[in-house]
Amino acid sequence: MQRRTLLRGVLGATALGAAGGCASMTGTLIAPDSATVAAAEAARRRPGRSVVTARLRASASEIDLGGRTVATWAYDEQVPGPLLRARAGDLLRVAVDNRLPASTSVHWHGLALRNDMDGVPGVTQDPIDPSGSFTYEFTAPDPGTYFYHPHSGVQLDRGLYGVLVVDDPGEAAAYDDEWVVVLDDWIDGTGTTPDAVLDELLRSGGSMMGSMGGSHAASGGSDLIGHGGDVTHAAYLINGRTPEAPSAFLGRPGQRIRLRVVNAAADTAFRVALGQHELTVTHSDGFPVEPVATDAVLIGMGERYDVVVTLGDGVFPLVACAEGKGSAALAVVRTGGGEAPPATSQPRELTGRVLLGTDLLVAESVRLPKRTVDRRLDLRLGGSMMRYRWTINGRTFADSEPLQLRQGERVAVRIANATMMFHPMHLHGHTFALRDGGARKDTVTVRPMETLEVELDADNPGQWAAHCHNLYHAEAGMMTTLSYRA
Ligand code: C2O
Ligand code: CU
Repeated sequence: MQRRTLLRGVLGATALGAAGGCASMTGTLIAPDSATVAAAEAARRRPGRSVVTARLRASASEIDLGGRTVATWAYDEQVPGPLLRARAGDLLRVAVDNRLPASTSVHWHGLALRNDMDGVPGVTQDPIDPSGSFTYEFTAPDPGTYFYHPHSGVQLDRGLYGVLVVDDPGEAAAYDDEWVVVLDDWIDGTGTTPDAVLDELLRSGGSMMGSMGGSHAASGGSDLIGHGGDVTHAAYLINGRTPEAPSAFLGRPGQRIRLRVVNAAADTAFRVALGQHELTVTHSDGFPVEPVATDAVLIGMGERYDVVVTLGDGVFPLVACAEGKGSAALAVVRTGGGEAPPATSQPRELTGRVLLGTDLLVAESVRLPKRTVDRRLDLRLGGSMMRYRWTINGRTFADSEPLQLRQGERVAVRIANATMMFHPMHLHGHTFALRDGGARKDTVTVRPMETLEVELDADNPGQWAAHCHNLYHAEAGMMTTLSYRA
């Protein structure tokens, strides 16, 4: 079987005139500003669509996280940034004013948008210089829960992130209300910055990893993903608030609420549960799944889950445990009288049924049709414990070999994690399908030593980043590009 797969892969490559290796593929690179990309965008245009305009101002800001004020960088001086909302098929026109002391960019995480608006400096656009502006304009083709953040260094680990909800005009809402829940690990303005932490990791890699691993080991690590992360954050937040001064969601008993949960953290997977409630997962990374009941969900960095709950009567802790790190974020759900739950609440649901993205089954409506695979690509995830260096196929981003493909192909990607850390792997511009009827996703948490295979249709031409959504891993090399060739 393995041999047959291998042969098919080689034959496929030969038929296309490429002798196996990526570098040898013929044809020209499809640039973000090419006619091919413009044509793909034109095909998304729908008659009668609306234009949604917004303006985001990125600046240095003082933010109150709840009893603690930090100096950080934020959009419109709020954390999370403004909620953006459109309907599927709408044109978004978002002007970004950079008032930061550094160049920046905005990436629209999860959207199958036009390549030249994907917001990756050096790949799809020039950075937005300090005091400069850039207007992003693109069609949002698919409904779902998305988010936006810079694709510049570790800026996302400051307060620069916000949620983008794309509504489905055809959806009959099976819920009464909707709450957006954004998870984050916080470090900026607490005596250090993400840039300082990254520098320190890169400088003293091995020893730093050792000591940090030690502190996490004290918390027991995680039975699901092992080592929790590389950075010890000062606080964990839900919607920009610490457990000591949490955000509150108000509802009525019996209401059905759709929670849109987004993990905007840099280095932390969260295990999310609502005390005394069962969660029904309905969507993952924006796309519908076969609804499934669970007590808790594990959500890696960059992943989104939509879950529906039927509210009980009382006051309940909504807890996001920093997986393997021995700490948590908290919000309060209130539908009746009662005392607020303590900041350290640990509802028993956290240790009940815990669902991972790889457990989900796709909803029929978004199942990727069966098709013969035209091309097989490999993403081998590696790391070195001696230096702080994370790799894809043995290389860091600086000298990575792009994964090449052609428009129209069905592509299978094998993601093999050869490290003892988990990696939430994210692909820009596409929503792949997990094998055997698994969910459609754009970010998948790959556990230590796990191998996953995903399939996608190469239907969005351009140059697309593919990377680990642990920001520190990505900055230390764990990034490559998916490169369309003509
Ligand atoms: Cu949210 Cu390239 O990532
Ligand atoms: Cu990683």
